[in-house]
Amino acid sequence: MHISSARFRCSSTKLSQCPGDGKWEFAFIGRSNVGKSSLINLLTDTPALAKVSSTPGKTKLINHFLINDRWYIVDLPGYGYARVSKAQRRDFSQLITDYVFRREAMYFLFVLIDVRLEPQKIDLEFIDLLGQHGVPFGLVFTKCDKLSSNQVESSVARYKRTLRQHWEELPPIWCTSSEKRRGREELLDFIENCLKEAPSEQG
Ligand code: GTP
Ligand code: MG
Repeated sequence: MHISSARFRCSSTKLSQCPGDGKWEFAFIGRSNVGKSSLINLLTDTPALAKVSSTPGKTKLINHFLINDRWYIVDLPGYGYARVSKAQRRDFSQLITDYVFRREAMYFLFVLIDVRLEPQKIDLEFIDLLGQHGVPFGLVFTKCDKLSSNQVESSVARYKRTLRQHWEELPPIWCTSSEKRRGREELLDFIENCLKEAPSEQG
């Protein structure tokens, strides 16, 4: 898919503030610092669109970016970031669960996983919740430039083995690197196919 325009539309602190124009949304979530904002900048080919930071917990709101005047990329707050107050942490998860489980315009959720780490409890719990709620999602392994291709392969294989303990069918999986621009075409092709199949407007 060719991206002809990508622009910031709005930040929301709650679901009711999100756009009401019925355009489909493709959302990105994962642990804090996993590379959500970097991946969004890679997909849109717009380096400063989403704010990238080495300080975890940068994205605290639901950020909507309008793509080709037709669909949205949604940058969600990271989960599992411990260095915020308990009250704030609860806010994060409320915001996340409100969006992920109740947002009718969300067509697909990309769950980002740092390819270097062994399967993390918090990610597996989140994935289980998605399954229970029937949320359509896929897994995007990030930072693949930090490992050799063999290491990436075995890390992904380990993840699949873990998932098979709970799941009969595995979700779609992509390997990406924002640094090396890997995975961009595959993700955009997937989104393009979704949009072809989707009713022109939700709701
Ligand atoms: P929060 O918004 O804080 O939850 O973080 P995020 O998930 O949006 O992560 P962000 O894109 O801000 O990236 C976090 C850090 O990881 C930054 O220092 C990025 O430069 C780095 N990073 C992100 N993607 C990659 C990648 O593919 N390769 C490498 N080597 N570094 C990456
Ligand atoms: Mg971010």
